[in-house]
Amino acid sequence: MRRDELAEAQADADPAGYRALARAPGARHVEVLDQRALPHASVTVRLGDAGTAARAIREMWVRGAPLIGAVGACGLAMALDADPGDAALARAHAMLDATRPTAVNLRWALDRVRQRAAALPEAARADAAWREADAIVAEDVAINRSLGGHGLVLLERIAARKQGPVDVMTHCNAGALATCGWGTATAPIFLAHAAGLPLHVWVSETRPRLQGVNLTAWELAQRGVPHTVVVDGACAALMRGGRVDVVFVGTDRVARNGDVCNKIGTYGKALAAADNAVPFYVALPSPTLDPALPDGDAIPIEARSPDEVLGVTGREAHGGSVRVAIAPEGARGYNPAFDVTPARLVTGLLTERGLAAASEAGLAALFPERFA
Ligand code: MRU
Repeated sequence: MRRDELAEAQADADPAGYRALARAPGARHVEVLDQRALPHASVTVRLGDAGTAARAIREMWVRGAPLIGAVGACGLAMALDADPGDAALARAHAMLDATRPTAVNLRWALDRVRQRAAALPEAARADAAWREADAIVAEDVAINRSLGGHGLVLLERIAARKQGPVDVMTHCNAGALATCGWGTATAPIFLAHAAGLPLHVWVSETRPRLQGVNLTAWELAQRGVPHTVVVDGACAALMRGGRVDVVFVGTDRVARNGDVCNKIGTYGKALAAADNAVPFYVALPSPTLDPALPDGDAIPIEARSPDEVLGVTGREAHGGSVRVAIAPEGARGYNPAFDVTPARLVTGLLTERGLAAASEAGLAALFPERFA
């Protein structure tokens, strides 16, 4: 895809005008939205070297599985701009790869750029790496658009048998902010809204980092999609009360057997959905599939700082941002960032090639080349 076509595809994906990752034509750096500042401020940061790209991923200025893959790929291209030698390439790959362990997209994107560059003479490596990073970005936009189209059909089916808006529940942020465009779990929602299908989204706040209330609610507001924020603890009761027609979530890694790893709290939603016969769909772009791992138990779960559990950040009345403690002084915290939802609780995996059953057979039928 040419760079102007990529810009067009990204603009199509993000009519509200915000973009998680952008690279000006010919630039050797990228600009990203600092997601720590949202929803109260829109701050763009320049990432111009591999070390800064690694820090942005580790400290979650950028986050979401597809986006950290894309930023990692750009970071590796920046490293090759600075030093195209084998040793520097290996060092930068290892540094970027160590930033976050759970989303397989990061390793996938880094391996892809390294493989492309390492086969070339040193003088040609950096340009080839940037081209590969651009391809990863362009493919992500196209994958999400396609996946969204398949999800739209599911929403249309629900709408056809329901009076009033379709009530969708989400978790965390699997939106445009987590990707290079469209989002994954949000792509069907954005397409349905643009097509005039009435819907309403229950946004689960997603403790401890609050990606639901900070990011998903912000995205839905930018695009004018009706939504309501609820605490994570309210979601099961809403399902039991018949207030949820369907759940759409994203994922950081899906194992060979269809087990789904996603933001902590996803498993609880899946259990509640199963108990209340609410369809539970996982939006799975193919780079997030990891057939090398037999099941969800093999997926590395990131443990983040207990401080994220013991405090919250919010906006003061006069606009500044403030961090406050919410636990007794000295309280111990534990902060696993992801959980695994067993395949049996997943109604279907929504991919760019259509809906797959959450099983090895289901995935192999749609992605035979990955199971060869
Ligand atoms: O810790 P985060 O904010 O990077 O976690 C994000 C999620 O869990 C998303 O659901 C997942 O990465 C899919 S994003 C399309």
